[in-house]
Amino acid sequence: MSRHYCILTYKDTNSFCNFAGLNLAIFIGIMTTILGIESSCDDTSAAVIRDEFLLSNVMASQEVHRQYGGVIPELASRAHQQNILPVVSQALKQAGVTMEDVDAIAFTRGPGLLGSLLVGTSFAKGLSISTNTPLIEVNHLQGHILSHFVKVEGRDNRSPQFPFLCLLVSGGHTQIVRVDEPLKFEILGHTIDDAVGEAFDKCAKLMGLGYPGGPIVDKLAKEGDPERFRFAKPNIPDLNYSFSGIKTSLLYFVRDMVAENPNFLEENKADLCASFQKDLIDILMKKLILAAKQTGIKDIAIAGGVSANSGLRNRIVEEGQKRGWNTFLPEFKFTTDNAAMIAITGYFKYQKGIFAPLDIAPLSRAAEYGD
Ligand code: KG4
Ligand code: ZN
Repeated sequence: MSRHYCILTYKDTNSFCNFAGLNLAIFIGIMTTILGIESSCDDTSAAVIRDEFLLSNVMASQEVHRQYGGVIPELASRAHQQNILPVVSQALKQAGVTMEDVDAIAFTRGPGLLGSLLVGTSFAKGLSISTNTPLIEVNHLQGHILSHFVKVEGRDNRSPQFPFLCLLVSGGHTQIVRVDEPLKFEILGHTIDDAVGEAFDKCAKLMGLGYPGGPIVDKLAKEGDPERFRFAKPNIPDLNYSFSGIKTSLLYFVRDMVAENPNFLEENKADLCASFQKDLIDILMKKLILAAKQTGIKDIAIAGGVSANSGLRNRIVEEGQKRGWNTFLPEFKFTTDNAAMIAITGYFKYQKGIFAPLDIAPLSRAAEYGD
């Protein structure tokens, strides 16, 4: 919806939600343009969405962390500070819009690194005040899930039907989420310790393969034997996960084998990656299958950085064929952190008239959301 149809000052944001013109504009089909800003970890990203269609999605990844084998929070904040203005400008330019055309600014409120979140939040607020554009706060994890609803011109834009289950697998989270409506979620299960992405990253670090580890392990696993080694599997009740035990199991196994043969890692890295990856996928799938059985839901999606994993993608499709699921894999560019997913979540919130006040602050931990 263009603001030509809705002449309100920013201070009216709360009443904006009740403004009859908003619903009328949606009803008569006026387009809604949302600018999304994502800065929760080490990627600075901005995207523009018009209705559900992506107009631009610009990303600046931070190479500086590679040499340290993990994200250094202080360096991440500084890099966001340098990148955010050019990234947002570029996203608007590529989309062929100006701030005049933008109906709302959606930004990641959390969870994530506090210093990184502060950069995106403060930038969004400044832009909101200076251009008189309403603000929308977005939960990063909901954004990952709703990335399935980003439409790209000329593509097959099939998306899950509600209710659906989403296996959300990232560097910081592992959850099975039931999604009843675009903004109605229930976490059915979650990790009680490490996230699965962390297990991939630690495996790569232990083997001296580099950072981020997930894509490297994935690549090596394609050349290895997934049945060669087995590691300790967790025994956790309900739909919850645990990945700390399997990480330790890999660590001790490698330590003992290297003590016998100093070249063990070099000689076996592909088999180690393939076997470890298979175990992680087995753990993920066991609970996902259980959740599908318990809920009777057949639309099953995956989201988050680890949903780029080729082994997991193949396995979900295979299980789906066996079990009569409709499976949904995100496009690769929407698996890791991106602002398109923030913009689409902002779009759904805009439809419901849910806006954020100017004194809003980031929330670094998922638990702070109370969900
Ligand atoms: O969603 P994301 O970009 O950031 C968080 O919100 O955490 O996820 C990053 C995680 C990292 O742990 C990275 O190693 C993992 O996603 N990842 C992968 C692959 N690509 C990224 N893990 C396994 N296989 C991949 N191909
Ligand atoms: Zn993420």
